[in-house]
Order: sequence, then C-alpha cells, then structure tokens
Amino acid sequence: MTLLVTGAAGFIGANFVLDWLSSSQEPIINLDKLTYAGNPETLASLQGDARHVFVQGDIGDAELVSRLLAEHQPRAVLNFAAESHVDRSIHGPGEFIETNIVGTFRLLESVRGYWSALPVGAVSERDGVLADGSSRSETAPTQEGFRFLHVSTDEVYGSLAKDDPAFAETHRYEPNSPYSASKAASDHLVRAWHHTYGLPVLTTNCSNNYGPYHFPEKLIPLMIVNALAGKPLPVYGDGMQVRDWLYVKDHCSAIRRVLEAGRLGETYNVGGWNEKPNIEIVKTVCALLDELRPRADGQSYAEQISHVTDRPGHDRRYAIDARKLEAELGWKPAETFESGIRKTVQWYLANPQWVSNVQSGAYRDWVQKQYQAS
Ligand code: NAD
Ligand code: DAU
Repeated sequence: MTLLVTGAAGFIGANFVLDWLSSSQEPIINLDKLTYAGNPETLASLQGDARHVFVQGDIGDAELVSRLLAEHQPRAVLNFAAESHVDRSIHGPGEFIETNIVGTFRLLESVRGYWSALPVGAVSERDGVLADGSSRSETAPTQEGFRFLHVSTDEVYGSLAKDDPAFAETHRYEPNSPYSASKAASDHLVRAWHHTYGLPVLTTNCSNNYGPYHFPEKLIPLMIVNALAGKPLPVYGDGMQVRDWLYVKDHCSAIRRVLEAGRLGETYNVGGWNEKPNIEIVKTVCALLDELRPRADGQSYAEQISHVTDRPGHDRRYAIDARKLEAELGWKPAETFESGIRKTVQWYLANPQWVSNVQSGAYRDWVQKQYQAS
C-alpha cells in the first residue's frame, strides 16, 4: 500500500514523511510544487530510499495528479499543500485563493475520479509481479478503505475573547484573514465532497505548530534566527495575542491516528492545551538562547525585542479544545511546551546550514534545475 502526500517538502508535511518512514515500510509519493516554502533539503536523508518518491508539481494539475493516482494506487491522500503564511496572504491573497481553494477543488476532483473507479468492498486482492519475475497477491485499495485526509487550521474559527472557551469542532467558522478564509473554503469543499459524492474524507484543524524545519518567516524560527544574527525581534503590537502551541511531531502523530481510526466525514481539532501570549514565547526563546548560546557582550537577547506595527486584522486569541481527539481516538501529545521549545532552539543552533540554504533558496533552486534538466 502507498500514501500520496501533498506539500511534503514543507514544514509539517516533511516532518510527517520523516516520522512515517522512521517506523513504516509503506511508501510515500510526495507531490510538492516547491514554492518558496518547499525545501527538499529537509528530506535529503531519504535520497536513494525507494520508499520516498518525490514529484515536483501542483495539486491543481489534474492530469499529473490523475496519472500519479493511477500509477501508484494509494490507499490514502493526505493534503498538506497550501500557502500557509498569514502575513503573505495579507500582502498577496491571489496565490492563497489559487492553491488553497482552486487547488484543493481540483485535487478533490482528481481524487474523486480515482476513488470512484476503485473496487467496492473492504479488502481487495490483486496480483503483483515482483522484480525477480515471481508473482504474489497483495492487498489493493478499495472504495471503503480509501481516505482523503485534509490538513487544516484552527484559524478557520476566527478569534476568541480572553475568557471564551477554546474552539471545539462545533464552533462556527469565522475566518478573518485571506489565509484563514481560503482554508475555511477548502474545508467546506472537502465536507461537500463527502456529503454530495460520498468521498471518504477526514479533516484535522490544528493549532500553531513549532519544531525543526520551520521556515524562518514564522514567529518562533524567525525569533531564533534574528536573535542569533543580532537583528531586532519584531513583536507585533503589544505582543499579548495568544496562540496555542503544539510540537510538530505531536501534530504528525495526531494525523496518523486520525488516518487510522477517524470517523468518516468528521473533523478533529488538534492542540496541546498550550496557550501563550506571543511576548512570552519570544522571551522564552531569548532565555533559552541566553543559556545555550550567550551573547558575546553578556547582555540578554531580550534586549533585541522591538514592538512594531500590528498585523492588520490580527486575531487576538486562538485556543483548541482537543477533547474529541483525546477521548475518541486516545491521542495525547508527547511533548510539553517546555521540552518542545528547548528541542526546537537546540535544533536551530545545530543546523545553521539548513537555515542559510532555506533563506537563500539555494538548495531549492538546485533541485529545480535538476528536474528541468532531466
Ligand atoms: P509550509 O508553507 O511550510 O509548506 C507548504 C508546502 O506546500 C510547501 O512545501 C509548498 O511548496 C507546497 N505547496 C504550496 N502550494 C502548492 C501546490 N499548489 N501544489 C503542491 N504543493 C504546494 O506549510 P506548513 O506549515 O507545513 O503547513 C502545512 C499544512 O498544515 C497547511 O495546509 C497549513 O494550512 C496547515 N496547518 C499549518 C499549521 C502551522 O502552524 N504551520 C497549523 C495548522 C495547520
Ligand atoms: O493557528 C495555526 C496557524 O498558525 C497556521 O494555520 C498557519 O499556517 C501558521 O502560519 C500559523 O499562523 P500564525 O499567524 O498564528 O503564525 P505566525 O508564526 O505568523 O505568528 C504567530 C503569532 O506571532 C501571531 O500572533 C503573529 C505574531 N508575530 C508573527 C511574526 C512573524 C509577531 O509578533 N512577529 C512576527 O514577526
């Protein structure tokens, strides 16, 4: 059996692939457009590993996606591909509409075509011919066994006031940014493809992730990278906006669990009950750097904090109620915020080359040239 995973050269998708292949022989077809956020260097340890097939391409390219589905016969499609950065969506919403809405629509249509042609029933056997010429019977995907898992965000629910209860799955959708509106639209399309066509879908809505391989435009990696470079640490507005933080590997384990046992057509909120104001996050990062890589002048990195103009329409607070996932599927995060943030800072200190390559785009450009040449 095989998985088709989209957007898996990005932060969460790549962590998912590395995690999956560390404990499974089931191969992954990785379809990624390699936008500025896609970095194949993250997956360099899988070079030559037959379980990982990388394909550069767009989820909206119906011909390519249909060909990949027909060729690899996946038992599931996991859709991580998206434009993901809120600030970019404010300055240029077009790509967000194109990938997150139109791209998801086209992907759903390609997947629907593939799924509706699968054999009906829970299990199907097919004969396979191995490289040595011998043949064997193997389990093949069926309509009932197939899954389309859509990876989404808590931002679709809008913003909470200070004392509001955390977002449950029943919270109404109130997206406020072009990014969250585009993700909300994609969630609705996925829901509709289930209700109208019976496509077996699952949706996860997760809170803010952090961890290794996070592109340094997002709060935590940006603060680490800027601090080490002696640059200002730009905190939007008063810094009292609250986000709910989850270590990326815990998001990956939640997706795995939902894929395994989630109920069809359901949505599952994913979060680690870790609400923190931004300014506290920034100060924590500074304190860890003070301990692990003290500034030459003996001052704290917190000296570099600089309050800047707020993000337009900035959501004040997100918080995830993850009780459905915990109670129904028995999922629990492995990391506390304290253990996860320490690991993250240590990872960035140990991987300066990854950071400089991703900032220059050098590795991505090199890979793209290889694809053009071949
Ligand atoms: P990312 O920006 O790091 O990675 C996105 C990946 O998608 C990149 O590799 C990019 O090249 C690829 N991509 C973009 N457009 C594409 C297209 N048209 N076709 C194929 N590939 C394309 O994003 P991320 O932080 O890893 O987020 C992954 C998913 O998880 C997104 O759907 C995002 O909305 C969701 N999510 C993210 C967070 C978070 O905190 N980062 C939290 C909840 C949900
Ligand atoms: O909640 C899940 C979402 O989390 C995901 O769906 C998005 O893909 C992901 O990018 C993230 O969105 P945020 O906007 O919350 O993440 P970001 O890291 O951009 O910002 C986190 C908070 O920090 C937010 O309140 C804005 C603030 N911030 C951000 C940056 C980049 C700053 O104060 N300064 C900054 O320089």
